[in-house]
Amino acid sequence: IKQEALAALAVTKESVDLEALRVKYLGKKGELTAVLKQMGKLSAEERPVIGQLANEVRERLTAEIDAQKKKIEEIKLEARLEAEAVDVTIPGQRTKLGHQHPMYIALDEIKDIFVGMGFTILDGPEVELAYYNFDRLNAEEGHPSRDWSDTFYFDQDSRVMLRSQTSPMQVHAMETKPLPIRILAPGRVYRKDEVDATHSPMFHQVEGMVIDKNITMADLKGTLNAVMEQLYGAGTKTRFRPHHFPFTEPSCEMDVQCHKCGGVGCPTCKGEGWIEVLGAGMIHPKVLEMSGIDPEVYSGWAFGMGLERMAMRRFKIADLRLIFENDVRFLEQF
Ligand code: PHE
Repeated sequence: IKQEALAALAVTKESVDLEALRVKYLGKKGELTAVLKQMGKLSAEERPVIGQLANEVRERLTAEIDAQKKKIEEIKLEARLEAEAVDVTIPGQRTKLGHQHPMYIALDEIKDIFVGMGFTILDGPEVELAYYNFDRLNAEEGHPSRDWSDTFYFDQDSRVMLRSQTSPMQVHAMETKPLPIRILAPGRVYRKDEVDATHSPMFHQVEGMVIDKNITMADLKGTLNAVMEQLYGAGTKTRFRPHHFPFTEPSCEMDVQCHKCGGVGCPTCKGEGWIEVLGAGMIHPKVLEMSGIDPEVYSGWAFGMGLERMAMRRFKIADLRLIFENDVRFLEQF
């Protein structure tokens, strides 16, 4: 039995086979166990001799099985280490570097300019209360911008909406910041618009606001003109047109001269020579009052800039959709 078992053991390469061998010889119904079970039939003289022999064989086999088991595990570990080995001398693969998105390049430039003028960047919620998006901005019930066909309200609670402008950030700033205030609040806004070359249901605005003593419309124009010249080069012309917003009085829209406009066929300005980039105005006294600021003492201005338009002007991009499609052939160019 011993010879046979040892020979079988030596060629075993799997731990399951080893276990089978253990059962075959040492298990309850094993061959060696069978010998031990028959001890009773032996004579008193034979019993201790055979018993000792059988025990020796059992101990030897147990030890050999354990040893073989260890050997198998070592071989397997070796094989695994070899298979998983990393050859550090093989040259690495270059990771492809992405590009910063053109709209964010433009945003970073805009932020830098305003931060240089002492503005603080402010972040706020895209899911907004209609109270902040409209009421606190003097857009009373029935104002056309509040219409369900223009605004994404929440089905469960119509007091909640996706902000349609970054202007509620004016109110958040007035509620949280000490006077005087100078903030810039970029972010996403949402409107029920069909997608075309100049519209998207999601786009970006950059809200700017200043409140201090003796702030005038001249400060607004001077600031915006300085920013446009820094962004688009010295001598860049702007144009202010009267407009209406519930939360500013007076209100205006600002156009910036189209960059190297090709005239009639220009895809960016459609030959008009000007691109509308923002709405602005002097903060309405009612809006200041609602936020607990005395309009007799303080005044301020605000603007809301269309970030995509700024980027389109900056990089001569003709179609707004290119900004959102993330086609690498487009993005690679910046
Ligand atoms: N919120 C306005 C819009 O979305 C822009 C604006 C901002 C106008 C601040 C005046 C002051 O069109």
